[in-house]
Amino acid sequence: MDKLVIEGGKPLSGTIRIHGAKNAALPIMAASLLADGAVRLRNVPRLLDIEVMLGILSRLGCHVARNGEEVIINSSIANSAHVPEDLMRQMRSSIFLMGPLLAKFGEVSVYQPGGCAIGERKIDMHLSGLEALGAVIEESGGQIRCAAAKLTGTEIHLDFPSVGATENIMMAAVLAEGTTVLTNAAREPEIQDLQNFLNQMGASVTGAGTDTITIQGVKKLYPCEYEIIPDRIVAGTALIAAAATRGSITLSNTNSAHLVSLVHVLRRAGIQIRAHDDIIIVNGLTRPKAVDRIVTSPYPAFPTDLQSQVMVLLSLADGTSIIKETVFEGRFKHVDELVRMGADITVDLHTAIIRGVPRLYGAVVEATDLRAGAALVIAGLAAHGKTTVEHIHHIDRGYDRIEEMFRSLGASVYRETPLKQPDPA
Ligand code: UD1
Repeated sequence: MDKLVIEGGKPLSGTIRIHGAKNAALPIMAASLLADGAVRLRNVPRLLDIEVMLGILSRLGCHVARNGEEVIINSSIANSAHVPEDLMRQMRSSIFLMGPLLAKFGEVSVYQPGGCAIGERKIDMHLSGLEALGAVIEESGGQIRCAAAKLTGTEIHLDFPSVGATENIMMAAVLAEGTTVLTNAAREPEIQDLQNFLNQMGASVTGAGTDTITIQGVKKLYPCEYEIIPDRIVAGTALIAAAATRGSITLSNTNSAHLVSLVHVLRRAGIQIRAHDDIIIVNGLTRPKAVDRIVTSPYPAFPTDLQSQVMVLLSLADGTSIIKETVFEGRFKHVDELVRMGADITVDLHTAIIRGVPRLYGAVVEATDLRAGAALVIAGLAAHGKTTVEHIHHIDRGYDRIEEMFRSLGASVYRETPLKQPDPA
């Protein structure tokens, strides 16, 4: 498996362009199934998860093509509503295919995505939402089969503003008969991007970005062209890395409105940030100050997807900081690795107490999931000495060649790919 080898201690400097958002692109690619014809998507990041989604769409019979950051998905000859188990296991986000396949074919079968490194990740709200729209759901041997002769709009209230459940229900409801009103919906920017895409295909969706989304069903959707929003988590990761290395960088192709909670935390830590148009400039030339309390919660609160990265910054701060994780129960796996690099962190259930240390030291560490992996890369960039981050396939799921991104900002970070063993035969 590939590793990243980092010689730490160099302040980041320079300018980078942020790629398109994985978490917006995945549901939008799934929603492309709803139009009969070729959908052209721009600013689609080159990531492992995107390749898996393209692979699944192709197995369902779609014609897919990629040229750099442009993807074309033509579902007019799609002929299967069955997502194979091996592909379902490769990526949890394949659950997004339920809503569009149900709306397109009147049936869908998928497999339970199961738990993952960051927590249990149930799908009960996805299923009850589809059931409310008229689907009959059967589960046996890990397979979930959903069928609906007709989907009918209704009122649906989510117990928790789940991003995935909100998106799945929106994608099923766009072709339902009548109006669906979804309350306690997730408000993430990726939900607004999905609404804009669905409307571009001829749907009638309003309210994304608030907690009530109204979907007026239409008879048919049409192919369109669409540009995916920039990735706020990749942008946030770069901002934190600049601050942790006491560097100064400029990001282009960003939307600072999507990063308000992170910018607020960074400013509390004494980091200077300026934003205009699609540019964000960060300057972290002095030691960060501790931040007394950060609580992860659904948007617009502090994102769970930046929790591990900001913990690295606070590990180096002057004073004691507290982070409470409320979204995923298993999201402190990076803590043991950071402690091995010299951080002083204790975890009490869902709360981490971070006593800032003057410096971290290089070590061999393991990425346990996507964002934990990104945090370890930041730690390696800021640390004295050499850090090796193992199991970086997790990082490749969400960052397009992270080593090139940081190398273009002056860091010393290289990928080591093990040589293939010769065939003994
Ligand atoms: C999405 C993001 C992920 C991010 C997360 C929270 C994508 C591809 N992934 O994941 O990067 O970390 O939002 O911002 O967009 N839950 C249930 N039942 C359900 C659904 C969710 O109990 O039916 C729980 C989950 O276990 C979790 C919480 O709700 O504790 C949040 O999950 P959710 O918002 O659904 O996250 P995802 O859509 O999986």
